[in-house]
Amino acid sequence: MDRVLQYIEKNQSRFLEELKEFLRIPSVSNNAENKRDVLRCAHYVVDQLRQIGMQQVEIFPTSGHPIVYGEWLGAQGQPTVLFYGHYDVQPVDPLDLWTSGPFEPTIRNGEIFARGSADDKGQVIMNLKGVESHLKSQGKLPINIKFLIEGEEEVGSANLDEFIASHKELLKADVVLISDTPMFDRGVPSICYGLRGLVYFQIDLKGTDSDLHSGSFGGTVINPNFALAQMIASLKNPDGQITIPGFYDDVQPMSPSEKVELSRLPFDPEKYRKSLGAPALFGEKGYNPLEQIWVRPTLEVNGICGGFIGEGAKTVIPAKAMAKISMRLVPNQDPERIANLFEAHIRRIAPSAVELTVTRMHGGKAWVAPIDHPAIQAASRAYEKGFGKRPVFVREGGSIPVVATFAEILGLPSVLMGIGLPDENAHAPNEKLDLYNFRYGIITSAHFFQEMAQ
Ligand code: BES
Ligand code: ZN
Repeated sequence: MDRVLQYIEKNQSRFLEELKEFLRIPSVSNNAENKRDVLRCAHYVVDQLRQIGMQQVEIFPTSGHPIVYGEWLGAQGQPTVLFYGHYDVQPVDPLDLWTSGPFEPTIRNGEIFARGSADDKGQVIMNLKGVESHLKSQGKLPINIKFLIEGEEEVGSANLDEFIASHKELLKADVVLISDTPMFDRGVPSICYGLRGLVYFQIDLKGTDSDLHSGSFGGTVINPNFALAQMIASLKNPDGQITIPGFYDDVQPMSPSEKVELSRLPFDPEKYRKSLGAPALFGEKGYNPLEQIWVRPTLEVNGICGGFIGEGAKTVIPAKAMAKISMRLVPNQDPERIANLFEAHIRRIAPSAVELTVTRMHGGKAWVAPIDHPAIQAASRAYEKGFGKRPVFVREGGSIPVVATFAEILGLPSVLMGIGLPDENAHAPNEKLDLYNFRYGIITSAHFFQEMAQ
């Protein structure tokens, strides 16, 4: 490994420059106007894969954004790692809250600020550079590698499951490696063994054909904003429990041993509260914050809109109101079943004086895996060598739906070696990546491939 590590040391500043190039491409998968940028970003990944020495590189168009694939299969008899990551990013609004432009990567105090720096371009580059450092310093890798890097993760990976199902041979591997999660805390390397699932809805209420004068008509028709507020308010009780009948039916309790492990983690609810700037924490009664995130499902109103929100006052009854509502699911909760329960419930509680439209958006299954797989042990040793510390094992509240797909369609275990940090503002203004972690993430990735060979 000496030569590999020397190579990383020598090329550090170029690695950073390449990360910046990657971050300059506004690959926002959600916006139609960015479609060409997303494509340009896919080509950037293609160029990178060629440059680091992949033998076969391909770009697969989909009905959405392309999937990029690359492989190096020169380590006969050694395991094959399938690396999964995404080159698309979340939208940047509210833009005025960014200190520097979201696509003008800027370094301040040892952190690089840009959309996608933590989620997930920075973490993708770390693994590309881990591979490059082996190939360019030794002429070979200790294991075989396949890269699968998609451009639709942030919008629900609509085309990925089908791609995986129809490319089983191409994607044949022994284990999946993903770096798309945060560490538990700064200086606490973490392996994630559980993710929540997701179902996402839009609900639209229409009261009347047009907005109305609230004096002339107020009192005779329903106000869609009011109806929406009442519906939403009824979805949780004061203890923070979701009121949809059957919602919790398949939720499994945390095992006593997992509870013990959880209680050993360095977590301080007061520090957590302060870091969020919240006057108080609020969550489902009877569970601590880590349990609320790891093993309890939740329902969130991601956005509401309706009526007059301009300056001053306007006396109006809006014709329409809309809300985006999503639920994070835990293992054993079937997204399809929960979506059906939600939709039926919403139809039941909508007043008959509004016209209701329910639209299902993307979703995905939760995932949890045992932590005794040899690849997890290899990841653990790699962290120890890279960051000088054994990792902790954590679950996460976020979702990467393809992890369940890898298990179901390809029968593959996944190792989630996250190098992000919880305060790196993923999906928010001023997203950033710690440059110390960037450096040691590359080193850890290089160690992982070495450890996988043993
Ligand atoms: N990197 C995240 C996933 C993540 C975030 C895992 C935090 C663990 C903790 C990923 O890019 C993401 O944001 N996924 C979406 C998936 C959704 C659009 C289906 C998410 O979780 O909202
Ligand atoms: Zn991500």
